[in-house]
Amino acid sequence: MVNSKTFSPGVCLLLALFGCEQYKPKTSEGFTAQAQNIVFEKCVACHAGGAAEYGFGIVDKPSLMIANGFIVPGDPESSKLYQKLLAKPPYGRRMPYGGPYLNESELSAMREWIAGLGESSVPVGSEITVTLETTGLSAEPSAGNILVKSGSRLSLALQVREGDSLSGLLAQNIEGTCPKGQFVGMRYETGVLTKSCSLKIYADNPCTEILPNLEFEKDIQSILSLPIGSSSLTCTQCHYQGNSDEIPAYAATQGGLASQALVMAAGVIDLGTPRASKLYLRPSPEGLPRMPLRGSDFLSARELAKICNWIQDGAL
Ligand code: HEC
Ligand code: HEC
Repeated sequence: MVNSKTFSPGVCLLLALFGCEQYKPKTSEGFTAQAQNIVFEKCVACHAGGAAEYGFGIVDKPSLMIANGFIVPGDPESSKLYQKLLAKPPYGRRMPYGGPYLNESELSAMREWIAGLGESSVPVGSEITVTLETTGLSAEPSAGNILVKSGSRLSLALQVREGDSLSGLLAQNIEGTCPKGQFVGMRYETGVLTKSCSLKIYADNPCTEILPNLEFEKDIQSILSLPIGSSSLTCTQCHYQGNSDEIPAYAATQGGLASQALVMAAGVIDLGTPRASKLYLRPSPEGLPRMPLRGSDFLSARELAKICNWIQDGAL
């Protein structure tokens, strides 16, 4: 008996060989019916485990997507799988690749599905995942998935960049869906964990290494005015004095970025606070859109660290 509207008689005829019964939509473990339909109709063509070229995604196995860090149970906003469906994904192209993209109701079905994955607590002692993201910590803990036992707390030794005090790392620097915890000396201890969750820790100072005594003319100017990576693009090629006369988009840096005085005048620096400075943020991976606009090469980690340290130390 076929009672589902999903399958037209034609399809059933085609499938008669295999028996239509087995094609009744059945919700697999870890999916809501709606999310499963969307994923099977719009994603698996490219992301089924076996598809040679795009096999990396394996979107049809929720447990694998969680284990591989693409889904943070209960937290759609932090889940790459969901982020990739939005207009501005954090990397690469919006999915489904090439469109058509999901409409509002499909997007909320995906949201609800991922949000719901976090709802039920798992039995004490079973394995759960804490997905950790960090910014501005010097080395430890490194970002990634940490397996812990349900019912326990996760205790992390925090290493902030040398020269920064832990006071820069306050409770508000810790976000995510894990139960709120507390600082114990140089450690942060979460609340009791009862289900998989995400933890984002960021220190105020995002510089990835310490590079003291930097000066604009000696260390920064060349980053802004020489070709970026192996491209021929430079920052000053777009941000030069006079460009805003023709193209209003350049008004913010209307003098250009060629000299220290012009950079200061552009209002893209908050002295001592790289995190609030567009000159650091826009070319960083967090830049929206990331500079250089239309570039495929970006500033190197070392170059970003130089801009970061220069701003941190007062932009001399
Ligand atoms: C036409 C082929 C195609 C379809 C359909 C498609 N994708 Fe993709 N997907 C790609 C390609 C190619 C990439 C890698 C490039 C990129 O990230 O932009 C990718 C990347 C991704 C990534 C990031 C993978 C990684 O390793 O970081 C996720 C997550 C993803 N897709 C989810 C989805 C979801 C969810 C759907 C369905 C709503 C979907 N994709 C539909 C081709 C496709
Ligand atoms: C191909 C042209 C182009 C290149 C190359 C380019 N930019 Fe931009 N940039 C733009 C445009 C257009 C805007 C304004 C629109 C926007 O904010 O996205 C902008 C905006 C900015 C802003 C924000 C200004 C403000 O006040 O909102 C900063 C900072 C910036 N760019 C820095 C850089 C740096 C640093 C580089 C080199 C790594 C660079 N840009 C390379 C085109 C470019």
